[in-house]
Amino acid sequence: MERQSSFEFDTVLRNARVATASDVFLADIGIRDGKIAALGANLPSAKHEIDVMGRVVTPGGVDAHCHLDEPMEPPLRMADDFLTGSRAAACGGTTTIVPFAVQRRGTSLAEAVKAYHAKSEGRACIDYAFHMIVTDPTEVLLKTELPHLIENGYTSFKIYMTYEDLKLDDFQILDLLAVARQSGAMAMVHAENSDCIEWLTRKLEAVGRTAPRFHSHARPMLVEREATHRAIALAELIDVPILIVHVSGREAVEQIRSARGKGLSIYAETCPQYLFLTADDLGIDDSYHGARCVCSPPPRDRQNQEVIWNAINEGLFSVFSSDHAPFRMDGVDGKRPGGHEQPFRHIPNGIPGIETRMALLYSEGVLAGRITLPRFVQLTATGPAKAYGLHPRKGAIAIGSDADLVIWDERAKTIANADLHHGADYTPYEGMQLKAWPGLTMSRGKVVWDGESFTGESGHGKFLRCGSPTLGPRLSRGAGPGFFDEV
Ligand code: URP
Ligand code: ZN
Ligand code: ZN
Repeated sequence: MERQSSFEFDTVLRNARVATASDVFLADIGIRDGKIAALGANLPSAKHEIDVMGRVVTPGGVDAHCHLDEPMEPPLRMADDFLTGSRAAACGGTTTIVPFAVQRRGTSLAEAVKAYHAKSEGRACIDYAFHMIVTDPTEVLLKTELPHLIENGYTSFKIYMTYEDLKLDDFQILDLLAVARQSGAMAMVHAENSDCIEWLTRKLEAVGRTAPRFHSHARPMLVEREATHRAIALAELIDVPILIVHVSGREAVEQIRSARGKGLSIYAETCPQYLFLTADDLGIDDSYHGARCVCSPPPRDRQNQEVIWNAINEGLFSVFSSDHAPFRMDGVDGKRPGGHEQPFRHIPNGIPGIETRMALLYSEGVLAGRITLPRFVQLTATGPAKAYGLHPRKGAIAIGSDADLVIWDERAKTIANADLHHGADYTPYEGMQLKAWPGLTMSRGKVVWDGESFTGESGHGKFLRCGSPTLGPRLSRGAGPGFFDEV
C-alpha cells in the first residue's frame, strides 16, 4: 500500500545509544507503522523527531511474571487489574506483560483463558500475552485442552509445588511435563516443598509465632532447594526444559547450576525482591508492618543477594521479572483480610513491583557497575521474550521488531509510592534512591510514558499469541536417562 505521508518514518529517535542483549552502538532509530524500520546514521527526517542526545535506548521491558486481577476468595482482591497494572508497567519502562490465567479446580482451563480475555480486552495499555496456571490436570486437559491451547498461542504454564489450592503432586507434574515436551511448551515451576512448609507452620503456630516475620521461618531455603532439586529430576526424567521461577538464593542456585553443568536445559528467573529486600523487611519484631513484604519464596539475606548478583553475571538467569502480586495494606481486601491483622498463614502472598523492576536493575545493576548494559537488556527484555516465544517481535531493537523502546534518564530519583501508578497503597522500595528512571516509554511507536505522565490509553494493548520458546534446545538432552523414550 502506498504511504500517504511524504515522510519515510513516523518517528526517528536521533543519536541513540542503542543497547541490545549483545551490543551497545550509536544509531538513529527509524519507526514506521509501529515497527522499527531502520537503524543507521543520518536517517531521513520524520514526522516526529526526538533527539535522544546519546542517552541509552533499550528495548521495552518484558515482564513475564506478574499477577493481575486473578480470581480470589472474597473479600480478597488484587490491587491491580489490566488497566492499572499495565499503566504502571508502562510508566516503569515495560511494554509487554505476561500475567496468568488461573484454572480453578473443577473448571476447565479454556474457561479460565476465556474469562481472562474478558478481563483484559479493551483495558490493557500495553501488549500482553497469557501464561496459564494448571491446577487440575484431568485426562481431558492433558489430552485435548492443554495441547489445543498451546497450539493456539498459550505456550507456557505454571506448575505450583505448594499452596493448598494450586499445588500438584509429582505424578501430576510428570503428566504436565510430558505435554510440554510433546507440544514444545515452557513449564514454569514454583519450587517449594508444601509439606515442609505446612509442618513448620504448624510448629510455629503451636508456640504463638504467627507474626509476619515467621513467614520466612516457615519457608527456609531448604524447602526451595528440595523442590528445585525434585523439579529438575522430574524434568530430566521426561527430558524437557523447564524454567524455575522466583529463585531466591544460594541453595536453589546451586541446584540449577549443577543441573546445567550436567547439560540439562534448566532455565531460571529471579526478581527484584531477592536483590533488594531481606527477611528483615518482613519485620525484626512482631509488628504487622512486615506483612507488606510477605511473598514466596521470601527474601533472604545480604549474602544471598550477592549470590543472586553473581549468578546473574554468570548467565544463570534468563529472566528478571517483577512477580508483581499486588495487595493493599489498608482496607479489608488485601494484606489485612477482613480488616484484621492475620497470622502469617493467612496473609496474602505477594508484593507490588511492576513499575520499579526496570529502574531498580538499571540503577543498582548497570549504573552501580554490577552488570553490563547488554546483560540488563537480556534479563529484562530479550531473555523473557525468548523464553515465552515472543522474540524477535518483542524484546529486541532490530528491523521488523515492534517499536517498543525506553529512553533512559540517568538522574536521581527517590522511589515514592505517591509517584507510582499501580493500585497498591505502598511500595516495598519506598525511599530508595535510584540513579535512573525511564524518561520515555514507547509501545509500538506510541509514547505511553513521557517521563512525567502516563500518556497511553486503555485498549491500546493487544493480545499476543506466543510461539515456541527460543532460549535453547527444545529437548534437554543432557545427562537424562531417556526414560521417556523407553516407555
Ligand atoms: O508470593 C508470591 N510470589 N505470590 C505470587 C504468587 C507466586 O507464587 O508467584
Ligand atoms: Zn510462584
Ligand atoms: Zn508469581
